Amino acid sequence: MKFTTSFSIATLATLSLGAFLFAQAVDIKEIMTKANKAGGLFPQIQKGLKAPAPNWANLKNDSDELVSLATMLGKSKPPKGDAASWATMSKGYLDEATALKTAIAAMNKAGADAAIGKLATSCNGCHKAHKN
Ligand code: HEC
Repeated sequence: MKFTTSFSIATLATLSLGAFLFAQAVDIKEIMTKANKAGGLFPQIQKGLKAPAPNWANLKNDSDELVSLATMLGKSKPPKGDAASWATMSKGYLDEATALKTAIAAMNKAGADAAIGKLATSCNGCHKAHKN
């Protein structure tokens, strides 16, 4: 019984360490490719909002996915820069993506345009601080 107990505690510890390491290993390049690179979610949403009659259902799917990616960004570790700055900048990106999602869910074009404008100006500051 004693043996079983300590065995399961050790197993649990190993499992949570594995989950922790996995959370650290989210690849920022992959997030950026899916979220921001040409053909990615951000340029797609930007383009979609310019349509005379925006396809809100598509925009909603894309902005939901963008928020998921932005959430993962905060759990990853950048190749450069300090942790406090990364926490602030990745949180800022998540907040802007969330504002975009909220505006799109409400079919609020002016609000979505404003949020996409903020996202568009976030790239350089973060890259300067955290990208090699
Ligand atoms: C919160 C910080 C942050 C924001 C905001 C951000 N990026 Fe990035 N981005 C990074 C980091 C860090 C890397 C480098 C990842 C690496 O080299 O591991 C990167 C890499 C990239 C890459 C290169 C991917 C590759 O395959 O090497 C592209 C393209 C990119 N970002 C586009 C954008 C665009 C466009 C925006 C704005 C709409 C943006 N990023 C906003 C942090 C950010």
